[in-house]
Parts: sequence; structure tokens; C-alpha cells
Amino acid sequence: MRLDIVTIFPEYLEPLNVSLVGKARARGQLDVRIHDLRDCAHDKHNTVDDTPYGGGPGMVMKPEPWGEALDGILASGEGEPVIVVPTPSGVPFTQQLAVELSAKPWLVFTPARYEGIDRRVIEEYGDRVDVREVSIGDYVLAGGEAPVLVMVEAVARLLPGVLGNAASHQDDSFAPGAMADLLEGPVYTKPPEWRGRGIPEVLLSGHHGKIARWRRDEAFRRTDRNRPDLIERADPAAFDKHDRAI
Ligand code: ADE
Repeated sequence: MRLDIVTIFPEYLEPLNVSLVGKARARGQLDVRIHDLRDCAHDKHNTVDDTPYGGGPGMVMKPEPWGEALDGILASGEGEPVIVVPTPSGVPFTQQLAVELSAKPWLVFTPARYEGIDRRVIEEYGDRVDVREVSIGDYVLAGGEAPVLVMVEAVARLLPGVLGNAASHQDDSFAPGAMADLLEGPVYTKPPEWRGRGIPEVLLSGHHGKIARWRRDEAFRRTDRNRPDLIERADPAAFDKHDRAI
């Protein structure tokens, strides 16, 4: 998968050299190209922002540098990328969207600073390619770079061969499947006793059916406690009698 990221803070994206994403890059599974938007701002101060029409606080990112940067990127590859615009006004970033994006060969991220990007940029590229405005949550960050780190990590770990154990994202919270509507329950490892605390007996039983039932019950309890909205909006058919008794 190819990823292009256009930013005025290339150094903010250094974490993409580390851990899972860094290894995927080193192995050639991810081709990440980071572009400095200021290279496309040609006045003396490499200005990328200006005051908003209609007044109001803050600054808006000018269209010309974005146009030059995105034209260059679009012309540099085969086919069409999906352009992902991080903004608190976008559609929620979910595991389902991460799965959808992970199937695309080419993504372009446009993290903005200030009050956002001149609307005409979104319209211009929306007429040419698939543009998604995406929010990582109901809070406002100082810029879109942290959301890009979040989205790239969520997408990269779904790419074939990136996670050591392919099964390990199948029971993630929010992953499609039998436990799709439930959060993941608690996990334990060795030693069997730590500071006087043991581990649930059933996990030592070797009884796969009982262990699966226990995991589901714990997942249900945790979801009920932390995210009751997930249970409310799920299809009631997703829950069995045992779940409902909890
Ligand atoms: N930029 C600022 N806040 C954001 C958010 N919550 N999601 C995506 N991009 C953002």
C-alpha cells in the first residue's frame, strides 16, 4: 500500500518509523511518502494560511499550496488514491472504515492546522477522486497529524503479513464476526499468581467451550459497563439467552 501525507510538520510523523508501521515500511509492505506543504508555498515566508472570508477567529489554509501538492501526488502514481481529510467535522473513524481503507492500494492524507483547509480544495478533488472527511473522535485537536498517526496504525495492522499473527485482529474489539458488537474482555498471562491475585480458574481448565463462554460473558459485562450504547444499537439477535441473563 502507498501512503502520501502532506503536512507543515513532517517531523510530527516521525513515529511512522517506529514499531509496527516502521517495520512494515522496512519490509516494503508500506510505501510512506511525507511531503512538506511549505515546499508548495512560493512567497518569501512560505505562507500556507490566511484570514477567513466573512471574518471570525483563526486562520484558514490557502488553496494554492494544497492544489500544487495534491496535483503533484496524483500525477505521480498509477490509478486514483482515496484522499482522507482529517477533520473534527468528518464521519467517525471506525474499525469498519479502517477495514475498508486497508483494501485500497493508495491513500493520501491531508492533515490541516488552523481552522482547516479552504473548502474549494475538498470540492476540487472530490470531483476527481474519492475524498473522505474523517474525524477520530468528538474532540478538537490542534491539527490533523495525530489523527493521521491513529488512522495509519489502524489501517496498517490490517494489511496482510503486517501483524505477526493474522488471527490476532480477528477478535479485536469492533472486529466483524461473532463478537462484533462486544468489546474485548480481560486477558491474562504468566505468572499464575501475582501479588496474591490469581487468574480465573476456567482459563486453566483446557475446556475450550467453557473458555469461549467465559470470554463472551466477560466481553458482554465489559461492554454493558463501558459502552452500553453498543448493546443498545446492536441487532437483538446478536445476543443469546445467556448474554441477556447478565
Ligand atoms: N483535527 C482536529 N481534531 C480532529 C479530530 N477529532 N479528528 C480528525 N481530525 C482532527
